[in-house]
Amino acid sequence: MSVENNILKNGFVDKKVDEGLDVIEEINKLKKEKNAVILAHYYQTGDIQDIADFVGDSLALSQKAAETDADIILFAGVHFMAETAKILAPNSKVLIPDLNAGCSLADSCPPEEFKKFVEAHPDHLVISYVNTTAEIKTLTDICCTSTNALKIVESLPKDQKIIFAPDRNLGSYIKRMTGREEMLIWNGACHVHEEFSLEAILELKKEYPNAKVISHPECEKPIQLVSDFVGSTAALLKFTNTDDNKEYIVATESGILHQMKKQNPEKNYIVAPPKDSTCGCNDCNFMKLITINKMYNTLKYETPEVKLSDDIISKARKSIDVMLDMSKKLNL
Ligand code: 13P
Ligand code: SF4
Repeated sequence: MSVENNILKNGFVDKKVDEGLDVIEEINKLKKEKNAVILAHYYQTGDIQDIADFVGDSLALSQKAAETDADIILFAGVHFMAETAKILAPNSKVLIPDLNAGCSLADSCPPEEFKKFVEAHPDHLVISYVNTTAEIKTLTDICCTSTNALKIVESLPKDQKIIFAPDRNLGSYIKRMTGREEMLIWNGACHVHEEFSLEAILELKKEYPNAKVISHPECEKPIQLVSDFVGSTAALLKFTNTDDNKEYIVATESGILHQMKKQNPEKNYIVAPPKDSTCGCNDCNFMKLITINKMYNTLKYETPEVKLSDDIISKARKSIDVMLDMSKKLNL
């Protein structure tokens, strides 16, 4: 199949989709023709989650990429996730519908500065959250996600010195849970999860006194402290599935509500409000750059593609493989 290489404008295929075209049907046709698989993160819009072959959090998506034999992975998520898929499935062509789908957390850890920090602490084990560039992963001993970070740190000897990067809130959560006061934490953060307002959550609690507050560990400490449950996106979903409460105030990206409502439609989910009530910032603007039409164009023209050198792939893969092995042993 010939591929047009010069149709990328501003990081995506900026082509109008013919009116009247059933885009979802076309995506499904192209998927079969090209032996492609669609992986989508829980923070994608509901329509995208519904056409994906697999929807999950960062850990589950990495595990899925590691086991795929698809020729093409169409990744509906952000760039570091597509990079992780490429590292784990180097023989597949990995496509991302918009190269601008970055991540403020990954950006908060520039490789040059991080390299210096790691070199200044040669006796420390480097644990980095998957929300980092491939280059940071090459400087990392163990990669982690919010689903396995706590268990991974807990499984290490108490006297093991650790650098944890890049999320300061997940890092301080792990510090609090494990009592590892000596852990060095990189000062990075996600602009979406840091935007939730404690005041507004407490106000909402007055309106919905029976609602449980559930939050992601990327949220700031005060939000975590007023939460009935703190966990990764997948853990929050599991909690609403197994818990017998009927109402939740949810402090994470609003895309997860699609799965929560799908899996337990009889329950009530209220998105925790952001500090700036006008900004709609409990939606990740990067995640929401992906649209069904961009997915169609990307699959059709097989661009933009995520490319990494063999050297980066082999160096970055080590830390991800350690994570996947540990996750298997820890039953995650
Ligand atoms: P998880 O998918 O590990 O919950 O991470 C949340 C996130 O912010 C992804 O970008
Ligand atoms: Fe990055 Fe935050 Fe968006 Fe996740 S929600 S992709 S951590 S900016």
